[in-house]
This record gives sequence, structure tokens and C-alpha cells, in this order.
Amino acid sequence: MVGVSGFIAIAIVTLLIVQFLKLQWLSRQYPPGPTPFPIIGGLWRLDLSLNQETYTKISKDYGRIFTMWVGHKPMIILNGFDAVKEALITHSEQMTGRPMTPFVIDTMKGKGVLFATGHNWKQQRRFSLTTLRNLGMGKKGVEYRIQQESNYLLELFRNEGGKPMNPALAIFPAVSNVISSVVFGHRFSYDDEVFQEMVKAVDFMFHFLPSPFRIAYDLFPRLMRHLPGPHQKAFECLAKGHAIIRDEIRSHEKTRDPIDPQDLIDYYLNQIEKSKDDPSSTFDEENMIHVITDFFAAGTETTSVTLLWALLYMLAFQDIQEKVREELHAVLDPSKEVCYEDRKRLPYTNAVIHEVQRLCNVLLVGSFRECTTDITLQGYRLKQGTVIIPDVASVLYDPDHWETPHQFNPNHFLDKDGKFFCKEAFMPFAVGHRICVGERFARTELFIVFTKLLRVFKLQLPEGVKSVSIKPITGGLAMVPQPYKLCAVPY
Ligand code: HEM
Repeated sequence: MVGVSGFIAIAIVTLLIVQFLKLQWLSRQYPPGPTPFPIIGGLWRLDLSLNQETYTKISKDYGRIFTMWVGHKPMIILNGFDAVKEALITHSEQMTGRPMTPFVIDTMKGKGVLFATGHNWKQQRRFSLTTLRNLGMGKKGVEYRIQQESNYLLELFRNEGGKPMNPALAIFPAVSNVISSVVFGHRFSYDDEVFQEMVKAVDFMFHFLPSPFRIAYDLFPRLMRHLPGPHQKAFECLAKGHAIIRDEIRSHEKTRDPIDPQDLIDYYLNQIEKSKDDPSSTFDEENMIHVITDFFAAGTETTSVTLLWALLYMLAFQDIQEKVREELHAVLDPSKEVCYEDRKRLPYTNAVIHEVQRLCNVLLVGSFRECTTDITLQGYRLKQGTVIIPDVASVLYDPDHWETPHQFNPNHFLDKDGKFFCKEAFMPFAVGHRICVGERFARTELFIVFTKLLRVFKLQLPEGVKSVSIKPITGGLAMVPQPYKLCAVPY
């Protein structure tokens, strides 16, 4: 006689076999990839230390386009310059969708830019680009705000008096403050409690997004909504962030001058007013809050971590740091502010910054897209709504495009006469219609902060420390350097 537990076991095994066969049948409609199993899909092929090379290794077995099943959901991965370019440039318009997973729907509600799609995305993205352009102009433009914040940062470095310091503690607040200054019109003091809460919330979300809890939420939303865990903290962080932004909006409403907008909130309030009679308008307070959240989410960790890599590479490659210093001291007038235009006179420094971005590849594999119509990629017909990951890391390390893909080599961006040039395969901000909204902003910030620090300080290892590791911490959304200390000694 088979007992109750025996029946349950037989039922579970039968269910798993049926599910396995169903997955094999379904997978015939997609490009090849690791065999999908019930619950884990093809994830068994990923090693635990998910890194830039993970998908490239799998692509050696299956080709430039392959399918990775996450549970019962297929994801198409594109590997190498040609495949990524075909998707993001040739089919730019059809690749503008974002997958609306249960977590994205519950948190972002289809609002803002980063996690929006369709008409809402188009309107909010256009507004964001135009506003950043408007705010970029004039005497008190974005560049001025970056210069001002860099001066506070320099002060923090100087106050350490050349003693060992953790640069992350200064860089993260400085980068958040530049965004605050552009969206709220003011910076915060580094020890302001509200500000610290905001910085921590952004950092938490960045680490939460690629975590197993987020994946579990997307696979079993009904169950996860009721269970405790870090996903509940993610909701709390967002609610806190939104409350801070709402307070800022209320105080702008009292003091703003519609004729002379000073920051993103001012521009947005004007836009709501302007389009109030347009039935197709998506401009409202909820969207404004999400656009601002997106700026912090997309702009803080990416820029801060890139700067941390830049300082770390300078510690590790002292000869390159010395060449940067020589160029800065030879070309720049110490009595003048550094501006983004100066990059044209500083080819070596510019090449170093580009090489930092290429090698550190801060966003690990890039972003998730969804095709908005049926599409043919690398000879495979994919249905509208298919999730596609253009693996940008595989382009930044594509051996057909970079001489020494895994080594720090500023010559990747210098011609034989030492002039700066940039290759098409340099795409840390992605490319096409959904390219990073803050690209110009981030490039300006990376250049000004890096140049100002390297002009004033020699970066050294603390006494007794012989070397520094440039191996990233893997497993998250960003490629983060291991915590390190440096000594910033004024020249
Ligand atoms: C080093 C710094 C940065 C890097 C490497 C970076 C990279 C990226 C990448 C790869 C994407 C995804 C594009 C895609 O969907 O394929 C993106 C999107 C985005 N970024 Fe950045 N980003 C940086 C800084 C910033 C900054 C400073 C801001 C804001 C001021 C910003 C705002 C955004 C927004 C709003 C999006 C969403 C665009 C959309 O979905 O249409 N980013 N970024």
C-alpha cells in the first residue's frame, strides 16, 4: 500500500517530469542554450561567482545568441560586438521595451524612465534629456555644480592629511550630492541624516535587484508578497525615498519662480502646468517622483563605483598615474577650474578614463530589454515580448576589438601619435534609442572629479601595504572593487 506521503512524492515527481518535458518542447522555439530544468531553468550553468566572463564561456558552447532559462522564463543573451550591435543599433527602435516583471510592476508601476516602456517611457525620457540639456547650459549649469561638489570632495581628501582613508566614504556622498543639486537645486551636508538615509537606500536597492530574493519575487510573486525578507526592505527604502522627494516638491511649490526654473523639479512642475489640458500627457507627480528616483538609482552607484575603480587603477599602476600627473601639470593652468572641454587638450588622461570605464565595466552584463515587435536576430526569429540581454561586457572585452581585453591599457584609446580616439565597441552607456540618459552628465563628472583629484594628490598605498587587488567583488549588479584604502598626499 502506498501511503499519503508516497502519493505526494509520486505526484511531485510526475509534475517535475511533465514540467521538464514541457520546457524541452518550449525551448525548441528559441535559440539553443543550457538544458532547462524545472524551477532552476538553465541557471545550473552559471558559476556562483557570476562575472564578466560567465556568459562568454557559455557562448563558446552555443554561439553568439543563446537562451538562458530563469525558472520557466526564457532570456536571450547576445554575446560579442556584432550581435549586440545588430540588436541595439540595427533594431534600435524594436529593442526599446523593458521587461515588466512582477517586482518592477509592484515597485515602479511603469512610471519614470528606467523601468518604463511605451508612451510613458518616451515622454519621460524626452523630458529628462531636454531638462538635463537645459540645466547643462549657463553659468550655474551641471558642470558648475560638479566643480563645486568636487571642491568639497577635495577638502575631505585634504583633511585626511595623507593618512590611509577609504575613498568610498567620500565618493558616494559627493556623487549623490551632484544629482541632488541638479534635481533638488541644493546639496546636502555629508552628515545630514536625510541625505545619509537616501544614499543608503539607493545602495540597498542596487544590491537587492540582482539578489536571489528579487528573482524569487519575480518567479513566485503571490507567495513572496506575503513573506518577510529583504524584498520588504526594498519596498520600505523606496517609500522612504519617495517621501523625501515629495517633501522637496512641496517646498519647491512654495518658493519656485516658473519663469526662472533652477532644477529638475522646477522644470517638471512647469511641464505639468503646460500639459494639463493634453489627454495624452503622462506628466504628473507620481511620474516626477519616479524620474527623480531613477536619476539617483541609475546615476549614483554607477558613477561612484567607476570613480573608485579609477583611483584603484591609479594605485595599482603608478607609472600610469605619473603620466597622467605629468600631462595635467603640463597642460592645465592651476589657477583655473577644470572643465569638460579640457579633455581635448588631455588625450592621455582622457584615454585613461575611457580605459577605466571599459575594464571596470561597471554594470556587469548590461540591461534587460524586451522586443516591442517580432524581430530576427542573428538569424533567429523572436516573438514580440521576448526578453533580451545584450551582454555589453562581452563587447567591452571582445578580443576582435581590443588588443589586450583583460589588461588595463590606455593605448586602446590612443593612436600611434598619442592622439585620443574612441572605438564603436566602447559602449559602457549602451547604445541606441535607450542609451543612458545621463551619459554626458556622467562623462563630465568622471572627467572633472578624476582630473581635479589627480592634479592635487599623489595616490599611494598605505605604509606596509605592498600591492592592491584589482579583482572585483562579483555576484551583484555592479562590478565593485574590493574595499581598499589609499593615502592622498598633496604634491
Ligand atoms: C558611469 C556612470 C554611468 C553608467 C556606466 C551608466 C550606464 C547606463 C546604462 C548601461 C544604462 C542602460 C541602457 C539600456 O537600457 O541599455 C543606463 C540607463 C540610464 N541611465 Fe545611466 N549610467 C551612468 C550614469 C548615469 C547618470 C549620472 C544618470 C543621471 C543623471 C543616469 C541616468 C540613466 C537613466 C535615467 C537611464 C534609463 C534610460 C532608459 O531606460 O531610457 N545614468 N545607464
